[in-house]
Order: sequence, then C-alpha cells, then structure tokens
Amino acid sequence: MIIKNICCIGAGYVGGPTMSVIALKCPHINVTVVDANPDKIKEWNGPVNNLPIYEPGLSDVVKEARGRNLFFSDDIAGNIEKAEMIFMAVNTPTKTEGEGAGMKADLRNIEACAKDIAKYSKKDKIVVEKSTLPVRTAEKIKEILYEKSTDNHFEILSNPEFLAEGTAIQDLFKSDRVLIGGDDSESGQNAVKALVDIYANWIPKEKILTTNVWSSELAKLASNAMLAQRISSINSLSGLCEKTGANIDELSKAIGMDHRIGPKFLKASAGFGGSCFQKDILNLVYLCKFYGLEQEAEYWHQVVRINDNQKKRFAKKVIDYFNGDLSGIRVAILGWAFKANTNDSRESASIKVSEILYKSGASITIYDPMVQKRSISNDIKNLWDTKVKLNDKRINIVEKISETKKCDTFVILTEWEEFKLIDIEESKIIFDGRNINHNKNKISIGK
Ligand code: NAD
Ligand code: UGA
Repeated sequence: MIIKNICCIGAGYVGGPTMSVIALKCPHINVTVVDANPDKIKEWNGPVNNLPIYEPGLSDVVKEARGRNLFFSDDIAGNIEKAEMIFMAVNTPTKTEGEGAGMKADLRNIEACAKDIAKYSKKDKIVVEKSTLPVRTAEKIKEILYEKSTDNHFEILSNPEFLAEGTAIQDLFKSDRVLIGGDDSESGQNAVKALVDIYANWIPKEKILTTNVWSSELAKLASNAMLAQRISSINSLSGLCEKTGANIDELSKAIGMDHRIGPKFLKASAGFGGSCFQKDILNLVYLCKFYGLEQEAEYWHQVVRINDNQKKRFAKKVIDYFNGDLSGIRVAILGWAFKANTNDSRESASIKVSEILYKSGASITIYDPMVQKRSISNDIKNLWDTKVKLNDKRINIVEKISETKKCDTFVILTEWEEFKLIDIEESKIIFDGRNINHNKNKISIGK
C-alpha cells in the first residue's frame, strides 16, 4: 500500500512531536493530527512559541512543516476517511474505577478511536498502536473494528514510542531503535513494510526492529519497567547511604563504571515522575496477576512502592530538620514539572512532597519556569488528598524566581538549569531533591 495520507488521533506529548517529525522527514506524505479537544488543536495552529506542549526544538520543526504537509485539525471523521494509515496516540491512564482500578490501563480512549475508525473508514486501513498498551490489545482493537465495519480490511501494527519528554525531538531524530510489530500474514508483512519505509527516510535500517505484535506491545511496558527499576534501585540505596556515611553520587559513579551496568538512569532523586512509569508498571503488575504470576507481580509492584516511599522520605528530611513542625516556616518549592525541559507535571514528585510539607504547617511558595500557574493550582485542587480553599494564604504560586527570595528554606524538585545557578543567602538551607545544587548549605538525597 502506498501511504500518501497519515492521520494521527491524539495531539498530545506523543502525537504532536512524533507526527511533526514524520512530516518534516517525509515531505511526500500529508500528516494530519486530530484531537477531541478543539482548544488544543487551536493552540497547535497558533503561534509556534505558544504550542500546547513545551519541548526544546519542537517549534522549529512545526514552523517548517506546518501548512506544508503537517496539519492540525478537529475534523476526526474526514481525516480518518482520507488516510491510508492511522496512528492512535491517545492517553491510556490507569483505571480509577471498576475492575482493576488503580492498576489496569484504562482503554476507553483507544476503544473510542477504534470505533471512530470503523465508523468513518470507506477503504482498507493500516491502524498503528502508538499509545502504550497492555500486551494483546491488538486483539481487542481488531474485534471492535470488525464488529462495526465488515467491508474493509484492517491491519493492526504495534509501534510504541520511546521518546522521553524534554528530549523528544532529539530522541525522534536519532532513535536508539524503532520497534514495529505486525502479523506474520502476507498483508501483515506488507503493512510492516509500509511503516518501515516511512521511518527509513531518516532512521538507519539496522535500527528498525520488526517483531510480532505481542513482543512489540510487551517490550514497551518492559522497557519502562526496567528504566524505572534502575531509579528505584538507586533510590533504595540512597537511604542506606544516609545511614552509613556512603555518598550516593560516589556510589552511582562506582556502579555505573561497570560497562555491563552503565552510568545512565542511576541518579538518585526524590522519586521519578511523569505520566508513564508508574502507570505502565502498575499495568505490568496487573498483567502478571491476571496470568496468575503473583510473585512476579509483587516484584514489579515494589518498584512503585519504593518510589512512593522516596517522596515521603525526602519530605520527612525537611520536616525533621525543623523538629517536626513547619508552622510559620516559608518553604519555596522550586520546580513543579516532573523533569526539566517540559511543562508536564503529571505524577511529579512536587505534588506529593509539597502536600506533605503543607500538611505539616508550612506556607509554600511554588515556582516553575514552564508550568502555568493555572496547571499548578489545578494539580493542587485535583490531586492533593488534602482539600484546600481557593484563596488559602499558605499557598502562593509565583511567576518569577525572585518572588521566592523571602522564603526561609528552598526545596528543589525539578532539575531546571536556572536552579543550578540560584543565588540564595548562605544562611538558608536548600533541600535538593534532584542532587543538582552545589551550595554548601544543601541537604541532598543519599548524602
Ligand atoms: P496526552 O494526554 O498528552 O495526549 C493524548 C491526547 O489524546 C489528548 O490531547 C486527548 O484530548 C486526545 N484524545 C483522547 N481520546 C481521544 C479520542 N477518542 N479521540 C480524539 N482524541 C482523543 O498523552 P501522551 O503523553 O501523548 O501519551 C499518549 C500515549 O503515549 C500514552 O499511551 C502514553 O503512555 C504513551 N507514551 C507517552 C510518552 C510521553 O513521554 N508522554 C512517551 C511514550 C509513550
Ligand atoms: C520515560 C522513558 O525514559 C521513555 O523512554 C518513555 O518513552 C517514556 O517514559 C514513556 O513511555 O512515557 P519520561 O517519563 O518522559 O520518559 O522521562 P524520563 O527521562 O524517563 O524521566 C522520568 C523521571 O525519572 C523524571 O522524574 C526524572 O527526574 C527521573 N529520573 C530519571 C531520576 O530520578 N533519575 C534518573 O537517573 C533518571
């Protein structure tokens, strides 16, 4: 099948950058990104310095391709109909109610995509799973497609995304690997070839790995689980360092110099955040349980538990320093994003740590260079267990770092460059949850 038109459902952190790069590298293909949220589409079509997501390098890619062969639209039906290949890049959060709540992936958005594809298709389609999904989801998608549409042939591919936020464009330009899973049948292999040919416009062929659908689906969950496991492993050792006088940075360096282990993803922190690690590991735990693998489920569950504990342990360091009572103490929270170079705060350690400090009596002043004030107050409103009033005087969200100057103590929770250079009075203590600051009055994880 010759691919002239691609449609991507979901204009978020994955759909937006991924499709922008495909459009940039494949000027012969029209790429249209659609979304159920028309405000988001409006923002994608607006000024490039105000796109709905912040990602270094993204605005240049959008500037070059948008209007040429990259389009953002709220016409879901028309663009599904036109495309030969459809990517599903919608969010797949953890279920909050019903069977498997708190663990299983909520596939309602994916199912809605499949229903739309079945409804609006008037010819054969290649349907690509770009979202992170539990192993064997393709089976369910196929069922929905053929239940609603019997005239067309649908080929389902799994093509999980491995980009990390903050480095998405770099990761997409030079991927470690592109993974494509497809059926063994002739039509399955033709579909795989069509997708390989797209990536081959800029990714070396030896980095494009083709597998069966189930390996591809499961490899994505497993990759995230292995990455997160390294952080929980080093974080579990940070507590032991604090008790024994060993230094976590020295430990990381010593361990990482073994080339079989390697130096990356061994930085101790106040806990990993982001929209994927926790939900994907919980999903893996659910799958293990579903298949009766209780011990294996427990093993992976512990990665998430260590992470929860690390956030609490870090907050306790601050509370213990002030002898258990933060009443009257003005605490600056530096960083709300879950990592540097993104405006995404999903599952950020800041959310939990700041709540614990607030509950201990502190007045908190929050500053992040990229996360909007509105998103921060929504997180507080929606994600804290403690309910706070709209105009609570103990919570202050500021737009300039200088507005935190009067605080009594500083808690760094995102590794933004500007926090490495902050000028804080020598007498004030910094609690460094990201091990970035070299001020001598800092109290860090694992030291
Ligand atoms: P996101 O929330 O940023 O974006 C998802 C978008 O899909 C939203 O704009 C939403 O409005 C839209 N949407 C949902 N249901 C829809 C429907 N039925 N029709 C049309 N639009 C719909 O999510 P994201 O961070 O881009 O993640 C998407 C998927 O990619 C998830 O499965 C995630 O696990 C995976 N993933 C994310 C990252 C990352 O760094 N964020 C990296 C790799 C993989
Ligand atoms: C992660 C993976 O790195 C991507 O490969 C994957 O595609 C993505 O999840 C996904 O599926 O969503 P992301 O969550 O965007 O990417 O960011 P990471 O760089 O992995 O950082 C996650 C968290 O771990 C951050 O809070 C970061 O500060 C923390 N971290 C990272 C540490 O605490 N220590 C480290 O050594 C590395």
